[in-house]
Amino acid sequence: MHSDQQWWRDAVTYQVYLRSFRDGDGDGIGDIAGIRERLPYLAELGVDALWINPWYPSPMADAGYDVSDYRDIEPLFGTLDEARALIDEAHELGLRVVLDIVPNHSSDQHAWFQAAVAAAPGSPERARYMFRKGRGDDQSEPPNDWLSVFGGPAWEQLPAAADGTPGEWYLHIFAPEQPDFDWTNPEVRAEFESILRFWFDIGVDGFRIDVAHGLVKDPALPDLGEQHEGILQHADGRNHPHWDLDGVHEIYRGWRAVADDYDPPRAFVAEAWVDSAERLVRYLRPDELHTAFNFEYLSAPWRAAQIREVVDSTLATSTLAGAPATWVLSNHDVVRHVSRYAREQGTEPAHALASFVGKPADLELGTRRARAAALLMLALPGGAYIYQGEELGLWEVEDLPVDLLEDPVWERSGRTDRGRDGCRVPLPWVADSPGLGFAGEPDASATPWLPQPGGWRALAADVQAGDFGSMLELYRAALRHRRELFTGNGEFAWLDSPTEIIAFTRGDAACLVNFDGTPTALPPGFELVLASEALTADAQLPTDAAAWLVRSS
Ligand code: BGC
Repeated sequence: MHSDQQWWRDAVTYQVYLRSFRDGDGDGIGDIAGIRERLPYLAELGVDALWINPWYPSPMADAGYDVSDYRDIEPLFGTLDEARALIDEAHELGLRVVLDIVPNHSSDQHAWFQAAVAAAPGSPERARYMFRKGRGDDQSEPPNDWLSVFGGPAWEQLPAAADGTPGEWYLHIFAPEQPDFDWTNPEVRAEFESILRFWFDIGVDGFRIDVAHGLVKDPALPDLGEQHEGILQHADGRNHPHWDLDGVHEIYRGWRAVADDYDPPRAFVAEAWVDSAERLVRYLRPDELHTAFNFEYLSAPWRAAQIREVVDSTLATSTLAGAPATWVLSNHDVVRHVSRYAREQGTEPAHALASFVGKPADLELGTRRARAAALLMLALPGGAYIYQGEELGLWEVEDLPVDLLEDPVWERSGRTDRGRDGCRVPLPWVADSPGLGFAGEPDASATPWLPQPGGWRALAADVQAGDFGSMLELYRAALRHRRELFTGNGEFAWLDSPTEIIAFTRGDAACLVNFDGTPTALPPGFELVLASEALTADAQLPTDAAAWLVRSS
């Protein structure tokens, strides 16, 4: 184990998607009271930390990623006092708390943006955001051709002034309700460092940085000249004018200094969708961020060759930076991995619904592979992320009624892409309760904000607890054994194995995953500790299964 100061080096962090985790006040929407109730569940599961998606006041144009006040709590979710209590209670159970900070953009209802709209062009209020004149004689064309990640143009025009002067346009890389800050403005920098301190002072252990690769834009705002569409997809090439510009690094050096001012130092994890492991590692230099999500791993198909390649490149580059690797299979923006692995596996990376929709899915197969994937991920060196519900084996809900969809992607794609609501459906806690036990007092029968599929009844946490063949018990056992077998410095080494078998050791422990169509023998000199499926009658590891082993003494 690492010292307390370096807990993030091999922590398993559980992602709490707040509005869908647990409803503590009976309004159908998850909240802080719900998390507090379920802290013992998380402690028993065996994770080290929670990352909570944005809980700040928000008009919810993008499920809380449109923040109107960075120093308070959204009333739907609770109060600042409840947040303080949650942090203290989590700490008492040995769980760290990581929040989500959204620095690329605010809500259009944020006091700064409201002041900017009310102020004149060229004013200090407008200088906190990216306002520009439109193109064309009447300025009716956006300043450039950039597109919003959610579809449509990335610019919105303010109404004309009373004297008829055309309104300025403002940049929004995401929804129009999410205006981008201008990070060349020192006031913006100072404000965010002060927001970090506000939460660090309350005891928060770290932050996940939303769109960490997007803050800096090419000042010339050049036309992109190519279309880029779909969620969080970035264009290739180093000349992209708003993704992964080198200027972001100086911002994070400032943030690192703030985090290092605390005892113990606070930690960051970057959400940075960049072109390569080499680009990602730049965020992880010793005076920058501590860790970053490994989206190459998340997006890899369930194939030995692709997974081996990502593991190799991740370990090589993170070693160079002296930063720990991280591993993740799902989050609130991508198709749940049970459903990804339920499809015929291609050779290209994929994570968005558009890549999977309409393709036949075998959920039993997806679940079997997800069990193996859990053991593989949790054996690799570094930190790991569990997205709420993956420990229950939840799949993507691909047939939500369209009138219930809330993701802005649905409308902005012209109702062609259902977006990300299918991975955000409220958790099933109790099989024999209304709403599968999502809501508590005062109205335990409150309708969850998105309907759960009937098939999730069999996956409710109360049904799985104590059933040693269940996904929940597999995660619990894995997290328990991980502490002895796979945390700390156990040196990683590939074991000689056929192409379709992934096998490696970490010190005296080993992990074996069978991607081949036929069962495979366990390596000699090892004893079985845990397997994702029962071994065959002659003690072989079946297809799409993983095993943890320890060297026989
Ligand atoms: C978050 C998304 C969000 C977007 C805009 C991200 O990458 O994870 O859920 O829509 O940033 O804030």
